[in-house]
Amino acid sequence: MLIAVVLLVVAVLMSLPWWLPRRVVALRERVFARINGDEGVPVPGELVGVERFRELYAHPAANGRSKGAALSDLFWYWLAPGPEMHQEHLEPGERYDAVARTTRALLAVPKGEVEELARRCAVRGVAGVRGLVRLRDLMMPVWAEFAYELVFAERCPREARDLIAANADDVVTSLKCTGLRHMGRRDRLTRYLLPRLDRVRVPLPGGLTSLEQAYYLQGAFFNTAVVQLSEAMAHLLLVLAQHPGEQERARTSDDRHFDRVINETLRLYPLFGIAHRITSGDIALDEHTTIPAGSVLCFNYPEFHRTGFADPGRFDPARFDPGRCDRPAKELNHVPFGVAANRPCPAWRLAPIAMRAVAREVLGRYVLDSSVTHTRSLPSRGPCLLTPRGAAHRPRLALAYLRVRDRWEDVWRGLVQLVLGTYMVWDAHRKRLCERHFAEAASNPPDASDAEDRYAHPGHQPGARRSL
Ligand code: HEM
Repeated sequence: MLIAVVLLVVAVLMSLPWWLPRRVVALRERVFARINGDEGVPVPGELVGVERFRELYAHPAANGRSKGAALSDLFWYWLAPGPEMHQEHLEPGERYDAVARTTRALLAVPKGEVEELARRCAVRGVAGVRGLVRLRDLMMPVWAEFAYELVFAERCPREARDLIAANADDVVTSLKCTGLRHMGRRDRLTRYLLPRLDRVRVPLPGGLTSLEQAYYLQGAFFNTAVVQLSEAMAHLLLVLAQHPGEQERARTSDDRHFDRVINETLRLYPLFGIAHRITSGDIALDEHTTIPAGSVLCFNYPEFHRTGFADPGRFDPARFDPGRCDRPAKELNHVPFGVAANRPCPAWRLAPIAMRAVAREVLGRYVLDSSVTHTRSLPSRGPCLLTPRGAAHRPRLALAYLRVRDRWEDVWRGLVQLVLGTYMVWDAHRKRLCERHFAEAASNPPDASDAEDRYAHPGHQPGARRSL
């Protein structure tokens, strides 16, 4: 009897990696929905089909960003400090326009300079590395230096690189619920930026206090840019590590083919799971159905990217070959950088150029192999084996080890995500950063003396622009 019980316990324990992670994810979703409420119109969904995804996303009334959605409290919590100054979450208006203009100016760098900057940062970041790495961790310092140079047009000091990487890592770790927020790490970066605002290479948005300007930079460049580029590169390198034929082709291919590899990576693993908008007016879908003002539209990228492609789960860069597409690229169900009519990613041009340059540098130096599970949220940070080109390439043992380790880590991580995620969703719900911000703004509208005070602390004296 005892032996039977022991055998049963051992069998249950050994089988954990095969069933527990999925159960934990389902449970996490239920807990989140319970705490957050089930606000939101899923698109595509019952009300709006996939064929109207773009039309609804581009609708002029689908333009609210934060105010009025419980979901915003959670995003503001994860993006703090200064979520009210994060470009992605600012409501439309003068302040948003000023901030978006500055971002465009900082990103308007000629292609050759982007390539050269990205290449230089990659060389410093990956030289001398070998063996087992986590791709997201490998990439963070590279993009931290890249973002710093974009903003300040000077080589990134080590101190700044570490502060930026620590900030970005803290944000993405909490977003994925694999760790809690550490506001101290984030505040250290804000304090570093504050006395350096006058060294930014383009004029910062006027009418903001120094602290608001620092928050803007921290949000757009030292959080979003670094996180998104690191995540995108982890996906790109991991998918190539798992498709050796595609890896070899990408290494030796021209830029056009490389862009297809990036397109296909971001189709299969879009960085946004859901982007939301709050409707500022009624949207009539037909004569019987209207989406009322104040609704939260939840645009589901992975769902949209799966439709309209043959065998959508397969990694196949050649599907973006113009000879194989039955529609122009613009009409494919593929919006990795959002939709042009409604606040698309301002880095849609620069990001693929920079990613290509860094990927070429990595592929030129290493053969990549990996045996881990590749999911869109990639909480494992992309474990991968790097073998220097020219060295003996015998990955079998390392891959067997990685496979087993990854399965067991999944079990532990799933439980951690459940506990920390539940806590953060609850804490964000309690703090209500977004709701309180708008309630305070409504009860204390800024008056003329506030405006004077703001202009008395200009973080940056408008001056000449500097190129990189
Ligand atoms: C491969 C890398 C990247 C991908 C796939 C990506 C994707 C996206 C997507 C899909 C959106 C729109 C979301 C929505 O409709 O709500 C967005 C917005 C944004 N992205 Fe990116 N992004 C990337 C890199 C970057 C970089 C390098 C920056 C640098 C500043 C950046 C800054 C922003 C900002 C500021 C917004 C908000 C735009 C606005 O509301 O005006 N992103 N990104």
